[in-house]
Amino acid sequence: MNVIRADNYQDMSQKAAAFLIQHIRQSPRTTLGLATGGTPIGTYRELVKDHREQGTSYRGVTTVNLDEYVGLEEDHPNSYRYYMENHLFREIDIDRHQTYLPDGRAEDLAAECQRYETLIRKVGGIDLQVLGIGRNGHIGFNEPGTPLHSRTHVVTLTSSTRQANARYFPSEEEMPTQAITMGIATILDSRQILLLASGEDKAPAIQHLLEGKPNPDFPASALIHHPRVTIVADNEALSGAT
Ligand code: F6R
Repeated sequence: MNVIRADNYQDMSQKAAAFLIQHIRQSPRTTLGLATGGTPIGTYRELVKDHREQGTSYRGVTTVNLDEYVGLEEDHPNSYRYYMENHLFREIDIDRHQTYLPDGRAEDLAAECQRYETLIRKVGGIDLQVLGIGRNGHIGFNEPGTPLHSRTHVVTLTSSTRQANARYFPSEEEMPTQAITMGIATILDSRQILLLASGEDKAPAIQHLLEGKPNPDFPASALIHHPRVTIVADNEALSGAT
């Protein structure tokens, strides 16, 4: 795993954006896997700034997101579709028909998971997947104990993830109890992975990840099986690593 050290959140965002911009400029028809959450917001902000100032184009880019809540309308302010529109898509020249997220409103959720897997294959697979990391080591919504061979599936959110994400909802009761997420095997199929981490509360997770020991109770450790992983982490997130 290649580690890029950043001074702080802003620096992490700039370094991660620079990595993505270089990739997009080299491969304008790339398929990006995208994440939501607090961590990548600054990176998306930097991409928007670069698009405005340097003209990097997303016209040929396809995106597939890691996950989506079950039951929220696309325009619900807490849906991940809304998040992506708000932080990135509406600010760049990407074709909306080339932006994909799991459909959390599908009547048949199992069929939707299958459809999403097929869709990822149809667009040629993911060239570069952006990931955040949960304090318990989750990637996507793959919580501890998720099998390595898992593909896109429905998850019931754990109380720790619900608590961590409740801050985005008016109340914890309004938070969905389920989500659709790419599985660990789906994520590992990506040709390249860029994992972002900022802040002290991620230090134990990053330390654990860099120890490089496979551990089903720590889903991110699956990444040690992948040949091309880059971690962009700030000093606080790296403070536990030796
Ligand atoms: C987001 C996702 C999650 C987050 C993780 C970290 O699409 O799949 O795994 O990356 O929960 O979230 P933040 O960045 O809010 O700390």
